[in-house]
Amino acid sequence: MLKLEPLARSHNRDGFDCGSEPLNLFFKQTARQHAERGISRTFVLVDEESPQPIPVLGFFSLNLCQIKSETLPAAEAKRLPRDVGAVRLGRLAVDLENQGQGLGKMLVMGAMQKFMEIFRTAGGIGLFVDAKDAKAKQFYEKFGFIAIPANELELFLPVKTIEDAVSESA
Ligand SMILES: CC(C)(COP(=O)(O)OP(=O)(O)OC[C@H]1O[C@@H](n2cnc3c(N)ncnc32)[C@H](O)[C@@H]1OP(=O)(O)O)[C@@H](O)C(=O)NCCC(=O)NCCS
Repeated sequence: MLKLEPLARSHNRDGFDCGSEPLNLFFKQTARQHAERGISRTFVLVDEESPQPIPVLGFFSLNLCQIKSETLPAAEAKRLPRDVGAVRLGRLAVDLENQGQGLGKMLVMGAMQKFMEIFRTAGGIGLFVDAKDAKAKQFYEKFGFIAIPANELELFLPVKTIEDAVSESA
């Protein structure tokens, strides 16, 4: 069975390779320090039967952020104050050997579920992501992420879309 859990020492960070060196480096060198200092949280997808050090199939990181509502598409910006809280899906990646098997989709669903936990506690208008390139943008658009007009690689997933996706998957 696959499960999502917070990144810990028991996970084999060195064995992870998603094919993108900046993402690999973040995962290996920065993610745990950021979690300890409250800068971001990283969650890993693992097989619960794996022995230690547990191989990591994929990961994502989340952090809190503040957004200027004027940067949103007009329909989304309506009736919002100027500054609003949200959650940023800072990074998301699947190990090369495990790509193309639906794990990326599981990670996006996991990030939406984590967003709902934050939303229930502190609010937030949705999830933001900076796609690293046009292909990553297409990947996120599959889940209902919409483009931010001022920045073609920044995308936004409104809370309503997240609520619908999470309740459909329950
Ligand atoms: C992008 C990435 C996370 C996709 O993970 P994956 O496990 O291969 O994706 P899945 O198998 O869950 O695919 C889910 C859906 O997205 C589609 N998809 C996968 N990669 C895609 C891509 N690069 N571009 C467009 N669509 C893509 C799949 O065809 C699938 O569509 P379907 O549900 O209609 O069949 C993975 O390729 C990766 O880690 N790449 C390197 C890092 C990266 O680019 N991260 C993106 C964030 S910046």
